[in-house]
Amino acid sequence: MCGIVGYIGTADAKEILLRGLEKLEYRGYDSAGIAIANERGVHVYKEKGRIAALRDVVDTSEESVVGIGHTRWATHGPPSQVNAHPHQSATSRYTIVHNGVIENYEQLRREFLPHVNMVSETDTEIIVQLVDSFAKDGLTTEQAFRKTLSQLQGSYATALIDNQDQETIYVGKNKSPLLIGLADGVNVVASDAMAMLQVTNEFVEIEDKEIVIVTREQAQIKKLNGDEVDRGSYIAELDSTDIEKGTYPHFMLKEIDEQPFVMRNIISKYKADDESIKLDEDVRQAVTQADRIYIIAAGTSYHAGLVGKEMIEKIAGIPVETHIASEFLYNMPLLSDNPLFIFISQSGETADLRGVLVNVRQMAHPSLTITNVPGSTLSREADYTLHTHAGPEIAVASTKAYTAQMAVFAILAVDAAQARGVEIDFNPLQELAIVANAMEIFTEKKDLMEEAAQEYLSVSRNAFFIGRSIDYYVCMEGALKLKEISYIQAEGFAGGELKHGTIALIEEGTPVIGLATQKDVNLNIRGNMKEVVARGANPCFISMEGMEEEDDAIVIPKIHPYLTPLVSVLPMQLISYYAALHRGCDVDKPRNLAKSVTVE
Ligand code: M6R
Repeated sequence: MCGIVGYIGTADAKEILLRGLEKLEYRGYDSAGIAIANERGVHVYKEKGRIAALRDVVDTSEESVVGIGHTRWATHGPPSQVNAHPHQSATSRYTIVHNGVIENYEQLRREFLPHVNMVSETDTEIIVQLVDSFAKDGLTTEQAFRKTLSQLQGSYATALIDNQDQETIYVGKNKSPLLIGLADGVNVVASDAMAMLQVTNEFVEIEDKEIVIVTREQAQIKKLNGDEVDRGSYIAELDSTDIEKGTYPHFMLKEIDEQPFVMRNIISKYKADDESIKLDEDVRQAVTQADRIYIIAAGTSYHAGLVGKEMIEKIAGIPVETHIASEFLYNMPLLSDNPLFIFISQSGETADLRGVLVNVRQMAHPSLTITNVPGSTLSREADYTLHTHAGPEIAVASTKAYTAQMAVFAILAVDAAQARGVEIDFNPLQELAIVANAMEIFTEKKDLMEEAAQEYLSVSRNAFFIGRSIDYYVCMEGALKLKEISYIQAEGFAGGELKHGTIALIEEGTPVIGLATQKDVNLNIRGNMKEVVARGANPCFISMEGMEEEDDAIVIPKIHPYLTPLVSVLPMQLISYYAALHRGCDVDKPRNLAKSVTVE
């Protein structure tokens, strides 16, 4: 979703801003812009489409050592040059970039700016016009900025520059992520540390309803009432090579290939010296004391949460419900007496989850975030965090984070079982090593996966994925992967449910991908496949060693039944990748999607 960068230092600001925006491209956007300041004023360049298009309109002869930049994912008003950020006040004194959604912008406009002509359709423009209007009333820029932010309802991360004081960037945040990066004589602003690793790896977090006055020499944090805040910095443990594609054509393919390494990394992070599971005692207690666990998630993470429920219930014997965050937020079920909330999120920034977390904290229930980004909002605001250790995931389509989430659930489930004295014959650390080897087999079988994509998906408008029990959840994920990057309409169904309606959609040649890794439902799902084949479907059956039959298209190596999703999803990821590639889709940046979904 939208991304912000800011720079104040001594080097060429526009190149640093543009490079920073390129690092934020993965978040998803539809227009981009920068503003740079110099003795001739503040120069705004913005364009619909990719950063490459923005580069074409930037005047390379304008030099500047201060500026702000933005990638916009449209919410208020369509993607266009006019609606792209930065936006300026009517006098052109102030220039702003903003992420988030201002819920009361119409009301603010009527109350404070009835005579101001708005140029764009965005909610953002209200902010910059308000600052200008309050400054005209005699407030300093800082006072006008704080007064403006105090009026806003909704979410924002914002950076503002003042043409009359080009030595300062004013930054504010509420609910949307934003960081300040510190270096010697240089300070930067970024939605994501990755954007500014080119300048520094030392960052300071900003909390909600704080502002930061950023100059070359310092970053002064204040509350909206002007009280100063003292906060230390931290070093981002990110390697800039982690966010490069290297020799890969796409991040998605690189990240699919990284899954065996991620598994081994998780094993090493969660293994104690005596080979047992290493987990914080606090987390263990929180899990074992719960009478019911509520897993809250969205998209792919929700699919991992469905598998997590199976693992925790079957291994540890604790009842679990998995909920879609945006539904739970406004339609909460009756809760048990001692619930634990587990928020599962690759980015740790998803607004729907954060909405639930805020409510959970108000109700004083314990919360655990499982995330790939430990310093993220959900990680900071929950009581406990478990890290998925997958390394930065850049492609919008989640792959390695999904399998990492399920691996962490397996470890958590077994740890809880052991703490509760439940006898189990399942060592997740050993079994994950087998998973890693099995994953490697698929990453080496790309030709076969490419052929399968050609055979089943080259011409079809739609596709179905069917499975039963835990395989059903993998089918939901396989379908999501295919639709989000190839735009083929795809659905994951419980095999037994097809005949209750959806089978009407099966016609000659409709691709149906069937999955069977669970012995107890193997014959049932094979029966369901026969039903669709009898109606003309083009079947692609994925099974597992020990259960395979002659015509099965893909056979995964034998894996412990709890962990089969970690391997059975690989052929689906790869087939989706090649289907998208052959259709000429932008695999890493699919249309309309954002990596980090920071609006509700
Ligand atoms: O960062 P999160 O895991 O909270 O994100 C949740 C979803 O937005 C995300 O999984 C989305 O569905 C992916 N594009 C799937 O590939």
